[in-house]
Amino acid sequence: MAKTINIQTYGCQMNDYESDRTYRLFHDQYGYSWNEDPTTSDLVLFNTCSIREKADQKAMSTIGSLLKAKERNPKMVIAVGGCMAQMKGKEIQERFPYVDIVFGTHQWTQLPNLVFNVQQTKTPSLEIDLTSWKNYKFLPFDKTEEPYAVRENVTIQNGCNHFCTFCLVPFTRGREVSRPAKDILREIEILADHGVKEVNLLGQNVNAYGSDRTGEMKFSKLLSAVAAISGIERVRFVTSHPNVFDFEMIDVIADTKELCNDIHLPIQSGSDRILDLMEREYHIDQYRRLHDYMRKRIPNLSLRTDIIVGFPGETEEDFQQTLNAVKEFDFDQSYSFMYSPRPNTKAAKWKEQFIEKEVAGERLIRLQSLQQEIHDRHSKAYLDQAVEVLVDGTPKKQGEGWLSGKTQTHRTVNFEGPKAWMGTLQNVVITDTYPNSMRAVVAP
Ligand code: SAH
Ligand code: SF4
Ligand code: F3S
Repeated sequence: MAKTINIQTYGCQMNDYESDRTYRLFHDQYGYSWNEDPTTSDLVLFNTCSIREKADQKAMSTIGSLLKAKERNPKMVIAVGGCMAQMKGKEIQERFPYVDIVFGTHQWTQLPNLVFNVQQTKTPSLEIDLTSWKNYKFLPFDKTEEPYAVRENVTIQNGCNHFCTFCLVPFTRGREVSRPAKDILREIEILADHGVKEVNLLGQNVNAYGSDRTGEMKFSKLLSAVAAISGIERVRFVTSHPNVFDFEMIDVIADTKELCNDIHLPIQSGSDRILDLMEREYHIDQYRRLHDYMRKRIPNLSLRTDIIVGFPGETEEDFQQTLNAVKEFDFDQSYSFMYSPRPNTKAAKWKEQFIEKEVAGERLIRLQSLQQEIHDRHSKAYLDQAVEVLVDGTPKKQGEGWLSGKTQTHRTVNFEGPKAWMGTLQNVVITDTYPNSMRAVVAP
């Protein structure tokens, strides 16, 4: 009987991509089929995240929950990989001796071998070497037996060179490595051949794409090349860094219809003093210049951001500046987090400056309610407007006869229409708005 696999994925879209391509690899090359239930799977893979402390705790507790299943079925192989495994490899092995494989962020392509080894030798392994980061291998992409969704992620870069003082990513994923453009474009051509209409290009600092590879095309060139692939209707990318984002990229986005008027540009704080402590390498002035140019060049731009509150030393005045920035830049959405000290990072050592949980929590609530107000105001402006949506699924609540899709600006829209419209662009008129979605009718 065919072996079965289950993958539990935490963290960012880069993890989603790695889990997806790893599943395809095991399915297409080694005959594994998907099993919804980890407790009865032959291979269970945890793809972990470590960005905040909560992420660590979540993964640790689900690994713990598999003990009983492993006792019932000792042949089950449990592998723990990704960013938390990279940071806490030894600790995972000690805490969960029944875990067979612990592997880091640079060992994805070695995973099939690690699994065969453990099946044969029954000895646990720990592979978390980051030192040969220059040879980072991206997962293969040429096997396509399983269907694809309307929208797919494509990783274009791994790692980060920035070392913001709060962030663990450079320690978990290592230095920036760009994937060869020819591989990216080939993968997207294959996706387009399989009906994919939208791609989301992924990296921790996508704007720096190409700078680590001599002769490689730069990010704006790559964007144009992706947009030109026949069948690809929409292109998005995350995450941009304000210090590496430039007017040329904005021009390309403005002038290319496939490049969505949806930009995710994390600001992190509205206070220059805090940005310096974060070592973000920009000030609000620089963000403002980019913002003003984006607004000038890209009509109906939806600007999204990330914000950390309660960074060590953040005063009420610094926080007020963050609220001011949210108002001034009129973000459509912000992903906001309470600062969480991470091992090895500089800011984690500034214990004297840590902000009390209650104070940070209260700031987070104030920030989120301001953001919701802005989001709701933007939503109201959609009423009675015609928008183009890419149909990508069916809404859970409405049931039969309903479709759901996304606008270029990353808003979810539900409306009635035939199933055959899946994967097509449709013009609809917005009739109602809700906190997280909108309702529409097909445009006359
Ligand atoms: N490369 C991206 C960020 C990736 S991490 C960038 O430079 O913007 C995603 C988000 O998690 C960050 O933007 C930040 O807002 C948040 N984050 C990262 N480390 C954090 C920490 N230690 N505590 C709280 N939030 C954190
Ligand atoms: Fe982390 Fe900063 Fe790199 Fe983003 S740019 S991944 S926040 S170190
Ligand atoms: Fe988490 Fe690693 Fe992504 S720490 S956010 S899975 S890069």
